Amino acid sequence: MRTIVSVVGARPNFMKLAPLAHVLAGRADVKHLIVHTGQHYDEGMSESFIRTLRIPRPDFNLGAGSASHAQQTATIMQRFEPVCLETKPDLVLVYGDVNSTVAAALVASKLGIKVGHVEAGLRSRDWSMPEEINRVVTDRLSDLLFTPSRDAGDNLRAEGVPAERVHFVGNIMIDSLLSLLPEARNGNGNGNGNGKHAPYAVVTLHRPSNVDDPAALMELLRALTEVSRERRILFPVHPRTRARIADLAWQPPSERITLLEPLPYIEMLRLVLHSDVVITDSGGLQEETSYLGIPCLTVRENTERPITCTEGTNRLVAARSETIGAAVRAVVGTRRRQPPTIELWDGRTAQRIAEVVAP
Ligand code: UD1
Repeated sequence: MRTIVSVVGARPNFMKLAPLAHVLAGRADVKHLIVHTGQHYDEGMSESFIRTLRIPRPDFNLGAGSASHAQQTATIMQRFEPVCLETKPDLVLVYGDVNSTVAAALVASKLGIKVGHVEAGLRSRDWSMPEEINRVVTDRLSDLLFTPSRDAGDNLRAEGVPAERVHFVGNIMIDSLLSLLPEARNGNGNGNGNGKHAPYAVVTLHRPSNVDDPAALMELLRALTEVSRERRILFPVHPRTRARIADLAWQPPSERITLLEPLPYIEMLRLVLHSDVVITDSGGLQEETSYLGIPCLTVRENTERPITCTEGTNRLVAARSETIGAAVRAVVGTRRRQPPTIELWDGRTAQRIAEVVAP
């Protein structure tokens, strides 16, 4: 019996775990244990995703919670080490680029346990992003590197990662997206029940570079105000961003900007499906909109997911109100009827990972 421990903790991890958890649950020769670090702990940031994605109840919850990066990472490490000693896994799987990912990879590798990284090889080359540090360190420590796109494999090769460690398996988020798409399509995004609504933009913002500097955040809110003159804005607000908006004492200038709580996965998908543009700094939304053919404006100077720009519908925009306003006008109406097909973004990534981790 092979023991595999998956470690997740933050919202974007859950959609990457779910498809693999389902495949491994069907394997009698694999004991798959799930550790939730507790990095995200709210109903809206964690529980609703676990439920919707039908992830088995985590076997361990480390209750790490929010803190500075060093404290959060250290707490997860201290609490994950005894779990490894107790369960003696053959492999620890980590997902994406959050603090939980690097913390678990450090613990496992120092105990001599093999590490597998799902979503390896992505690089923004922007060292001011905590996620870039997490990605590079995690990949360096990993024995199995599962890449979502060929550019990710190229990055790893250029860094000297031996080719036999790298497995091009495709994008596991698309497995989750595909499994919930029928349910998301069944309904309209605007909650008005008749399937007809005025065009709207979906906005999500939570990167420290966009929301932690009051002047930068104010400029973005000005941009949204400008965009809202032409189309409604529906903005599910991340807790970090909500706190920063409250610090600025900013209120939406009209009912054309609606601030929402973080949305459950299917509701978010539904909202995006019926929008005519998404304005975001999220990694996952760049991929989801690309898959669905919906124009996406990413308010960042770089992306670790360049394939969404070259083959998908993503475009990077500067965080200035004139630029964002002009970009929205340029891309609305460009929704693709035939969304692009990106290599191995086909809903079978979890299966391919399972063939490697439990041959
Ligand atoms: C983390 C990830 C980021 C990912 C994002 C998705 C890192 C370094 N960053 O950023 O890559 O895109 O999650 O959401 O791991 N909070 C709550 N409730 C929660 C969780 C957080 O209120 O359930 C608040 C806390 O005030 C906390 C703040 O959000 O201080 C930030 O949370 P944290 O998990 O530290 O980082 P994120 O900004 O969410």
